[in-house]
Amino acid sequence: MALYAIGDLHLHFQSVLKAPGQRHGVWRNHEEKFRKNCAKMITEDDTLVLVGDHSWGKNLSECELDMQYIMDLAGRKILTRGNHDMFWDAKKTKALNENFAGKLEFLQGNYYTYKDIALVGTKGCTFEGPFYLNRRGQIVGWDEDAEEHARKLVDREAARLRESLEAARADGYQKIIIFLHYPPTNILEKESVFTRMAEEFRAQQVIYAHSHGDSRFYDSIMGVYHGISYSLVSGDFLKWRPMKVVE
Ligand SMILES: [Fe+2]
Ligand SMILES: [Fe+2]
Repeated sequence: MALYAIGDLHLHFQSVLKAPGQRHGVWRNHEEKFRKNCAKMITEDDTLVLVGDHSWGKNLSECELDMQYIMDLAGRKILTRGNHDMFWDAKKTKALNENFAGKLEFLQGNYYTYKDIALVGTKGCTFEGPFYLNRRGQIVGWDEDAEEHARKLVDREAARLRESLEAARADGYQKIIIFLHYPPTNILEKESVFTRMAEEFRAQQVIYAHSHGDSRFYDSIMGVYHGISYSLVSGDFLKWRPMKVVE
């Protein structure tokens, strides 16, 4: 029995929005690679948290085959929201949970448990630019309107995360794992509202995804920082092998 995590499946069994980059390299036939890895690693007793960017589908009917692919994997499946999950309105998470009752669990504004651990999650947000570089490639500025917009989203997501953390704490959970789709910090930050909240609630781990490709994998915190373990679990980073979070 174990808890696993991976993010960014970016499925597109129906959608026409297939990303050109998904035809090559680590992305080539990634659905099949991931399915085979799960079949080898994950049993019906295990739990798999999918950390956002599940599908390119623009709405739920364009995600049917993608959701079916996820449902066909072994074990319990918990999903969190990614920036590309257009099928998932944060305010309608309850309806999704009713729709997929007994098959998939959608983590947003609520929390789930694994053994004595509370699993808390939200999309998160971090300012990703545009950054302005000098000739040496150093950041000398950024788009201030974009930063202002990102700041509002960060505040909203931080409020959502706090609500879930408080619910878990009110129910007496001491052990907490936080799942964010976005990295907890951007390339300019050492810490953020999310890392500070993880410390405030004494989370054991922060698991995040969203960063794709060699040039982005190391944008945020990896390893232990202030006693909390941070892990990137985007599918291409993990080469489609889910990470074991805890036994
Ligand atoms: Fe992604
Ligand atoms: Fe993403």
